[in-house]
Amino acid sequence: MQTSCLIDGTFVPARSGRTFVVHNPATDAVIAHVADGDASDARAAIDAAARAFPAWKNAAAIERAKPLRRLAELMLRDVERLTDLCSQECGKPLAEARVEVAYAASFLEWYAEEGKRVYGETIPASDPGKRLLVLRQPSGVAAAITPWNFPIAMVTRKMGPALAAGCTQVVKPAEQTPLSALAIAELSIEAGFPAGVFNVITGLDAPAITDTFFDGLTVRHVSFTGSTEVGRILLAKSAANVVRVSLELGGHAPFIVFNDADLDKAVVGAMASKFRNAGQTCVCANRFLVQRGVHDEFVKRLTIAVAALKVGDGRAPGTQVGPLVDDAGIRKAEAHVADALAHGAQVTTGGARVTVPGGTNRFMAPTVLSGVTPTMLCFREETFGPIAPVCAFDTESDALAIANGTPYGLAAYLFTADGARIMRMVEALQYGIVGVNDALPATAQAPFGGVKHSGLGREGGHHGIEEYLDLKYVSWRIS
Ligand code: SIN
Repeated sequence: MQTSCLIDGTFVPARSGRTFVVHNPATDAVIAHVADGDASDARAAIDAAARAFPAWKNAAAIERAKPLRRLAELMLRDVERLTDLCSQECGKPLAEARVEVAYAASFLEWYAEEGKRVYGETIPASDPGKRLLVLRQPSGVAAAITPWNFPIAMVTRKMGPALAAGCTQVVKPAEQTPLSALAIAELSIEAGFPAGVFNVITGLDAPAITDTFFDGLTVRHVSFTGSTEVGRILLAKSAANVVRVSLELGGHAPFIVFNDADLDKAVVGAMASKFRNAGQTCVCANRFLVQRGVHDEFVKRLTIAVAALKVGDGRAPGTQVGPLVDDAGIRKAEAHVADALAHGAQVTTGGARVTVPGGTNRFMAPTVLSGVTPTMLCFREETFGPIAPVCAFDTESDALAIANGTPYGLAAYLFTADGARIMRMVEALQYGIVGVNDALPATAQAPFGGVKHSGLGREGGHHGIEEYLDLKYVSWRIS
């Protein structure tokens, strides 16, 4: 297991010699002691990325594609090892971690190809003596700050487009889950990336490390996935040196079920969206809005499905819902339940912590709340836990008003059979992603990202590589 930072193609301990402990949130077992890098280590990684940039930028796109594709292959070769590491670090069930490895590899595979399609433009000039061209060039050193909830896929979702575009990169993984990023780093050496093209700096002092990303003109792009609160801080830091930022921030997704929806499919979708990673995903359904005609039946079916979920250590066979990542996470989930009950909601299943033999006290029973109203905490804030609050609505415009009545705008879900309504809703929902009769819209080839307080920029698709490219307009007088 790799526990040192990757700087300039070599694994090195922190200059201070310090390490920090990584725990399994399911058991609190110590998984590893990892290099506790600081600003000086981050600076060394940035300098290495800057030295590697000219050659990487000038390499042909088909050459850059080779190690990217090879890394995807190596990740799939080592799928079981990566799956286990991911599950240990963040607590997610092995079956989900295995899907995450494949999802992660898909970004590398897809961008290995997309890097070959970074085309320029010619523009018809008004002056016949001129030729107007637009070049798209890699912007320079990119930095990535990745979250604990997808410790593998969020690294490659940033790595794929950055390296395919011709940028070099420094990744700072979340302190809870640095080992997955270091495992990718180890495979990146085997995949054949030149030294300095991809660097990983681990450490507890995230503010000091991320300050180095903004303190000069070397890092030209910072991509962050995490909370809106931290996103705001990074956006403010980016102002001094006008560093471009891509921010994939909090969500508060409405999951809207109309009377004419296929209820079986809506319940299957609700389960997939809400309980993936114990509800700890930015795009997971956070607010269920169900039209009154099917409300009771939906709650009944959802309750039966949720009550059957198996809670446990992510690495135990058959586990479907693992622990929350930390104590603050479970306290928040509990607070949302308590607030809903205090204001008149009912628990139809779950509602409290679950004891898992040999486990920590971070396991929350998958919960359904009915009788929820939009003023309750769970309808105002992202829960990031396995709580499904259901609110009844009457009309399409009521549903829309509740759905849009939040500063967040990442993902929304819509279950209905009415084509005209689908189009009206899709156009009116203030969200970056809308799943129509589809609870799992994220994929490498499509743009992922939010509006309003949910972020800036997109990851995935041909849109995602644009974040790492600068346009250069050339006006060429030829006569
Ligand atoms: C996230 O929740 O941060 C990412 C979810 C996804 O890519 O599906």
